Amino acid sequence: MWVVLDNVFGKKGDKMDILEIIEKKSNGIELNKAEIDFAVMGYVNGEIPDYQMSALLMAIKLKGMTDKEIIDLTDVMLHSGDVIELGFDSIDKHSTGGVGDKTTIVLAPLMAALGVKIAKMSGRGLGHTGGTIDKLESIPGFQTSMTLENLEKQVDDIGVALVSQMGNLCPADKKIYALRDVTSTVDSIPLIASSIMSKKLASGASKIVIDLKVGNGALMTTLSEAKELARVMVKIGQLSGKETICVLTNMDEPLGYAVGNALEVLESIATLKGNGPDDLNDLVINLGSLMLYLDKGTPIEEAIEYVENALKMGSGYEKLEELVKYQNGDLAGIKVTDKTVEVLSDKDGYIKHIDTLKIGEIARKLGAGRLTKNDVINPAVGMVLHKKIGDKVLNGESLVTVYYDDKPVIVSDVLDAFTFSENEVSKPELIYEIIK
Ligand code: URA
Repeated sequence: MWVVLDNVFGKKGDKMDILEIIEKKSNGIELNKAEIDFAVMGYVNGEIPDYQMSALLMAIKLKGMTDKEIIDLTDVMLHSGDVIELGFDSIDKHSTGGVGDKTTIVLAPLMAALGVKIAKMSGRGLGHTGGTIDKLESIPGFQTSMTLENLEKQVDDIGVALVSQMGNLCPADKKIYALRDVTSTVDSIPLIASSIMSKKLASGASKIVIDLKVGNGALMTTLSEAKELARVMVKIGQLSGKETICVLTNMDEPLGYAVGNALEVLESIATLKGNGPDDLNDLVINLGSLMLYLDKGTPIEEAIEYVENALKMGSGYEKLEELVKYQNGDLAGIKVTDKTVEVLSDKDGYIKHIDTLKIGEIARKLGAGRLTKNDVINPAVGMVLHKKIGDKVLNGESLVTVYYDDKPVIVSDVLDAFTFSENEVSKPELIYEIIK
């Protein structure tokens, strides 16, 4: 495809050719914004076919992009669809995805109880990671879609709304992400940074805290890759006038004990009532204090105290009740299946390693997640771990309770996800680094 450029990005009369752009990138040469715009919007409009876009994505994956290219790519994807403007300041907390990650369900009402406005758009799960919207839909009646007007009214009335994506946000990312998924080009820092940040910048938040998961259950498996991704995302946020903080956190084991939709909502409720697992509590306190700092300028030490107190007092739970009622849900109606099986340890020792990806995959196979967009979720199934890294285990003790329904459970698969040591093992660090 050829066009004669006649816009702000290029000189009038320039000719552009997708083959030249692919060639340029595959030789490691920086693309200008006009070229990026031409390729991305040409693909969105159907003028550039999948095979040429795939070649360009692979060239980007192999040769990388400069910061300027990543910023330009983010801007092009951001403006490919609607850009929401809220009538108030709202702080977004985004997770790059992990297993058992129910943090949003705890943090959103908790922060609203502390006076931070939360208008949060969340996604559904795909593959081994869960999605907040699927989890919330395990609450009978809970409505996850609404108009922008109703979202603004709800946040005005009670300070918080949790909804699925509205409008036509970042159609370029939607189309390109689907192609990346089938061309082995998901794993690229420039493509991940621009994909995440274009959606964040389009969804109306004024400041952003990103929980960047690192470990064997996360997209980023090494700290060095995660640091680079964080650096780029923070820079994009800053240049867009939306202060962004990235927190690098551990995903070498599921977060908390529960994995599966209704089970995770129940664990979130316990956490909001002050009875949460240590790692989830710690994460909520760390992320929550950064959100308070971003929203109100509260010094971090003071912000930590506010969040801890709100957890102890149960004020976030009261806000969750209010939120669920407003969105037509019924917390008392949450159900988990009554068919359970225990996975017993076959040795004495200490838990040394948990294959988190495998736990996520098993939960998905039980029906807690989906492999393709059209799979139907069973909210009532999942797993509750009883042991995590560093815990002592006796032969015959239960490691996991599996909640199953119509799909078979292969107990040996669950057991295989655990590695034991005869020697004591220290608990893993939860927060690796905060990058701002
Ligand atoms: N999440 C996103 O939204 N985009 C990516 O590319 C990877 C994770």
